[in-house]
Amino acid sequence: MDTYRVNTLFMFIILCLVITLTFQLSGENSGDSSYQDILLPYPLSQRHGPSHSHRYVRECQSIIHGNVTHETWRSSMKTGLPVAKSRIFVSSVSSGSEKPRWVSGHMTFVNNPLQSVSVLEPGGPGGCGIAHTETVEKTSRVKKCLFSQNGGYFNMETGECLGNVVSDGTLVRNSRGIQNAQFGIKKDGTLVFGYLSQEDVLDEVNPFVQLVSGVVWLLRNGNIYINESMAVECEETQETGTFHRFVNVISARTAVGHDQEGRLVLFHIDGQTDVRGMNLWEVAKFLKNQGIVNAINLDGGGSSTYVVGGSLASYPSDHWYAKENHI
Ligand SMILES: *[C@@H]1O[C@H](CO)[C@@H](O)[C@H](O)[C@H]1NC(C)=O
Ligand SMILES: *[C@@H]1O[C@H](CO)[C@@H](O)[C@H](O)[C@H]1NC(C)=O
Repeated sequence: MDTYRVNTLFMFIILCLVITLTFQLSGENSGDSSYQDILLPYPLSQRHGPSHSHRYVRECQSIIHGNVTHETWRSSMKTGLPVAKSRIFVSSVSSGSEKPRWVSGHMTFVNNPLQSVSVLEPGGPGGCGIAHTETVEKTSRVKKCLFSQNGGYFNMETGECLGNVVSDGTLVRNSRGIQNAQFGIKKDGTLVFGYLSQEDVLDEVNPFVQLVSGVVWLLRNGNIYINESMAVECEETQETGTFHRFVNVISARTAVGHDQEGRLVLFHIDGQTDVRGMNLWEVAKFLKNQGIVNAINLDGGGSSTYVVGGSLASYPSDHWYAKENHI
């Protein structure tokens, strides 16, 4: 098992969540029916032209005012070493009557997330505004992040960031109260997981210093919260829709959560939609067994990426394909 330990606090941002599409093969490879492992929570919008390029955080419901359901937790303020620990794991997963599957991924535990975790715009500050798409690796190098993972969703066609984004104290994007699962860190170090109204997002007394939107609140207070999330985050009621598939298909996944000590925990699992990886029930169960208290799901599929010191250390499905085909 590989374990990365980080003993330097002052030179680097320890951990970054980057809002970005991981690999855009289409640039170098236009004309080819380039493969992208796109895992959509919501149906594609009805439009002309290529249909593969839309990704929405669905505007199911918005709540502007009031106190919406979320959980808060005091973050670890521990300044001792190591500041962060990251480990590779290989695990066997079985659901129902299926044969067990092997999955591999990373878990990264961070002390003092207030001081050491950043939500980053693609390519750096202003990247959401100019609809800049950039890889996690490149963005990670700009900020000298020790560990980085992909984070929020964005519209693949326009490059526009979706959901709420607060990056290092700057409100980059306000989703106007859209009810998707959120992760944030407040100025006093409080970790926030769950749903937020616009009023919550714009709080000036104890403002968010980092905030990013995912889809599906996986664990709430140590309990699996997927059914409840499905009711809040999507109006689809039938059991076979896009959202149902999004939750139940195996794929690469990325999630963020916290443990009892208030350490931030980043989770990443390699995969390829329908072929390898985990569904969200399996992710939630896995995190629960690791003692995670609250967790939300972030962008997955081909976007799922784990980067150490500016270099890719995971096997995203898009990249995998690229390697196999010598692109
Ligand atoms: C919001 O609700 C939470 C949990 O019910 C409570 O702890 C908190 O004080 C409330 N905040 C406000 C501003 O009412
Ligand atoms: C979630 O909902 C499904 C379908 O309604 C149900 O079969 C299942 O038992 C529920 N799971 C949990 C953990 O509540």
